[in-house]
Amino acid sequence: MKIVLAYSGGLDTSVAIRWLKEKYHAEIICYTSNIGQTEDEKRLKVKAINTGASKLYFDDLRQKFVNEYIIPALKAGAVYQDKYPLATALSRPLIVEGMVNVAKKEKAQAIAHGCTGKGNDQVRFELTTRYLAPELKVIAPVREWEFMSREEEIEYAKKHNIPVSVTKAKPYSIDWNLWGISIECGKLEDPWNEPPDDAYQITASPEKSPVKPEYITIGFEKGVPASLNGKKIETIKLIEALTDIGGKHGIGRIDMIEDRLVGIKSREIYEAPAAVILHTAHNELEKLVFSRDLFEFKKMVAQRYSQLVYFGQWFSHIRECLDAFVKESQKFVTGEVRLKLHKGNCIITGRKSPYSLYSETLATYTEKDMFDHKAAEGFLEIFGLPSKLEGLRAKKR
Ligand code: ARG
Repeated sequence: MKIVLAYSGGLDTSVAIRWLKEKYHAEIICYTSNIGQTEDEKRLKVKAINTGASKLYFDDLRQKFVNEYIIPALKAGAVYQDKYPLATALSRPLIVEGMVNVAKKEKAQAIAHGCTGKGNDQVRFELTTRYLAPELKVIAPVREWEFMSREEEIEYAKKHNIPVSVTKAKPYSIDWNLWGISIECGKLEDPWNEPPDDAYQITASPEKSPVKPEYITIGFEKGVPASLNGKKIETIKLIEALTDIGGKHGIGRIDMIEDRLVGIKSREIYEAPAAVILHTAHNELEKLVFSRDLFEFKKMVAQRYSQLVYFGQWFSHIRECLDAFVKESQKFVTGEVRLKLHKGNCIITGRKSPYSLYSETLATYTEKDMFDHKAAEGFLEIFGLPSKLEGLRAKKR
């Protein structure tokens, strides 16, 4: 039997190599991808093979991640429960796509992942596999194995000479990619605790961020961020630049209680400076160019979209349908938004678009005013009719 294992080099997936090999008498092929985290291919290869894998595939999926996942999610306004920009959730179907390709090439019978039974990631791995390659078996060692505690697992690792890097001092579980970082465990498990500063990996605390604000301008073309401070820029470079600039100013720290698909409430923190800046700017531009109807309706689409990404239903007809709607909606989302970054705040200071629906001569209170004030009388007569009828009835009671 051949098994393709989603491998990070951490404790769980390292132990999984050994465990799967023994339990299924299988050849273990490790799969890792570069989606923007700092991972050293050579080091991982050596580690995987020393731990017992036959080989390691390492794919650079950054461009695909940006084009096929991040940009559609940004255009859709996909933010789970109004806070989480879905960095981890978006990466799972992408990783499974890569694993399925390797499984086909290697004629493997199964894929394996290191997710626990209480999280969302198992759902994303398994729904995606069912959609793309239902013939593959999915094995979840962490759900199956007999270790009763982290200590027992570490014991097993030591017995098999698997290097252990979890320490008491750094007790967090961290998932990292271009779109953001997800951090759990340790002190964060008590929702009353303020996140310790060492939990944050890439953002400065507001206290330590610069006193002087920094202004940036982001340009969009049909909903896609395309320029920074007036200069065209590739999306990956833009996300990296905004991660640096935003992180420096303490932007993108998210501390939330979220509802997992399995029903558990969990306290998680995230760092997503680029995602927060881009969603803020994108949403602002939509306000300028969308009708009220479209703006309100798209909010519902965004909420539904965020749920299906979170619930592992990236590969689904409903997502394709929503993408088609979102694509049409972005036709006029071209223009620029200026933001002021200061001590954790991402403040909008200006917006403009050739397709703006804003009319100064209608909005102004100066002599430039072109609004027909007299017309409001007839409008109110008719718009106010239901209020009048209800009011008269209320008096009768
Ligand atoms: N709660 C987030 C989500 O469900 C983040 C999960 C982080 N995963 C992890 N393996 N640390 O998308």
